[in-house]
Amino acid sequence: MFRSWRLDTSEQTLVLAMRRGRLPSVVYWDAPLPEDEDLELLREAHAIDLTGGMLDENPDLSICPEATRSFPGQPGLILRAENGESLLPKFCFFREESATGNGLKLVYENEEGGLLYSAEFNVFEDSNIITARASLTSDNPVHLNWFAAPVMPAPQNAEEMIDFSGRWCGEFQEVRSPWHAGMRYRENRTGRTGHEHFPGLVIPAKGTINTRGGAHAFHYGWSGGHRMIAEELVDGRRQVQFGHAARMEFKAGRSFHTAPLYMTFSNEGINGCARSFQRHLRKHILKFPDQSRPRPVHYNCWEAVYFNHNLPELKEIASLAAKLGAERFVLDDGWFGSRDDDTRALSEWEVDPRKYPEGLQPLIDHVHDEGMSFGIWFEPEMINPQSSIYEINPHWALGSEDQILGRDQKALNMALPEVREFLFERMSKILRDHPIDSIKWDHNRVLPMPDAAQTRGSYELIDRLRAEFPKVEIESCASGGGRIDFGILQRTHRVWLSDSNDALERARIQHGAALFLPACVTGSHVGPRVCHTSGRTHDISFRSWIAAQRHMGFEMDPRELTDAERETLMKVASWWKAERGWLMKADILRLDSDDPAVLAELHISEDGTQFVMFANKIDTSGQIAPRPLRLSALAPEKTYIIDLVNREDLHSFSRGEPHIKQNKMTVSGRYLMSYGIVLPWSFPSQCWVVKGKLAE
Ligand code: DGJ
Repeated sequence: MFRSWRLDTSEQTLVLAMRRGRLPSVVYWDAPLPEDEDLELLREAHAIDLTGGMLDENPDLSICPEATRSFPGQPGLILRAENGESLLPKFCFFREESATGNGLKLVYENEEGGLLYSAEFNVFEDSNIITARASLTSDNPVHLNWFAAPVMPAPQNAEEMIDFSGRWCGEFQEVRSPWHAGMRYRENRTGRTGHEHFPGLVIPAKGTINTRGGAHAFHYGWSGGHRMIAEELVDGRRQVQFGHAARMEFKAGRSFHTAPLYMTFSNEGINGCARSFQRHLRKHILKFPDQSRPRPVHYNCWEAVYFNHNLPELKEIASLAAKLGAERFVLDDGWFGSRDDDTRALSEWEVDPRKYPEGLQPLIDHVHDEGMSFGIWFEPEMINPQSSIYEINPHWALGSEDQILGRDQKALNMALPEVREFLFERMSKILRDHPIDSIKWDHNRVLPMPDAAQTRGSYELIDRLRAEFPKVEIESCASGGGRIDFGILQRTHRVWLSDSNDALERARIQHGAALFLPACVTGSHVGPRVCHTSGRTHDISFRSWIAAQRHMGFEMDPRELTDAERETLMKVASWWKAERGWLMKADILRLDSDDPAVLAELHISEDGTQFVMFANKIDTSGQIAPRPLRLSALAPEKTYIIDLVNREDLHSFSRGEPHIKQNKMTVSGRYLMSYGIVLPWSFPSQCWVVKGKLAE
């Protein structure tokens, strides 16, 4: 039996073709094909030749390559029977079912029976994303070692691939690796998405840059740790596999699902892919309780007081934060149990009567009187051995008794219903008894071992709390950006991108994250004058403008600010508030700066009528004068009015007269994209902000 199917958005076509009733292969995935393209012909045209040293037929690189069909690379499924024997299924077409949305669902059964494999593809035109997800059901319990989401071919016109590494205070570092025979294999065995292993991959065609060229990109939406295989076979074909990290299912089961694999192709450079992910998150994943509420400016007290909670002091800080422009006050770690440092009390989740003799209400009332809403910190999945709960329930902890602790804590076993029930009770009591509008949900250690049931347990608890308290927003944090992925973002509303409030580091981390995350979800705070995690000192303007490039907040002790610093910060915060209506719905496009010392981004409204360019100078330039910065995604024949927003940051060392230094400019999109903007000279660690709009 031969069949073909096609999936289209305005920017891509994906064609699946099946031969002889076997699992289908992706025979085309690239720029849109004409509507009347002959798909049967594509199936035949896709077949590669045979020569010496090859089998007599090329095994299919299918959506789940099967070891039994002589596939020479990594298989898409590794399965064992309950008695430990390897199972080697051979899937044959069973039926086509209707997909849940706009898409395709194909079901295959094992030749010998007992197993059903299905792959579901969904197409999202408005975000240019195709999702792919695989499921397996078995008549008998089976052990799952490895199960890939539908496997995609990688283009052979790419020389390299980009994936991500990172660390605490250094998330979203891009790693470029060359394609060559064999595989690039990433496996995250930390049990959470992790700073180290953001589950994403970009494959730019040779010559592709941010603003130009073809690129394929992937994101695996799962918070428990993933495996990625990017493999080139000896015949030159390439495959990309994503799934949960291997051997995460401890029990034999009858039904397994991969997480959704989010995929996109764009001919508009790497930015085309970034825009797809950002839009998809905004339009299809994030569910803000109140869409009409502007993203509030946060104040988070962590770096101001740490565990040292003192009511009069917190009230003073809250009043100052409100004057600066904060709209939500987040009470961080330290409010519960006897949490005087990070060695104790996690899991207790009852207000500390020593610090808050009359409970949290006096602080909340004060915060409300200052016109802010109130948010609170939890770290639900964790327990300190030094806690009253652990004393009674040591068996609630995940992993062995003598495991290595992380920040003096263990993870709770979220697969246990009684653990989830306990957490739900404690957390819902706090949420029911107080007018709280947001949670900062932390997760500060890796798991003792990866365990899919743990992630499912966390999701279940969050979902239950969300259902009970639908107005409460959640910020996902894990020592900064350790749990950022579309799986957690289906149930949360903001990510704490990094514990680094160093504006210089943050500019780079934000730039990396923009390949997947829009501004509205990416928390960014103005930190203390001397950064607590790097020791660097940055002036208030740089710190403020870096935070204003995402969902803005403050985290310094406002009592440290001088009058001049306060004035600058207030000015930037009110600029942000005036612009956030469109800015929080804008696409972030990374510009191809010709100066490696400048990281530049264009934040452009979806309708293209307005934009702001941020040029972050992260180092000293090699040449003396700033190189022109070319914009992107404008209409070449239309005219734009552009203006420098932060002229007060001009330094006396800038002695010349680049036009934009003192004047607005009215120029064509063509000029801005071809020649670019000549900015004034500046020191490093400074940001230029240029606002642009379409001329009437
Ligand atoms: C780690 C987070 O990333 C910080 O922002 C802060 O919430 C601390 N945990 C609190 O323990």
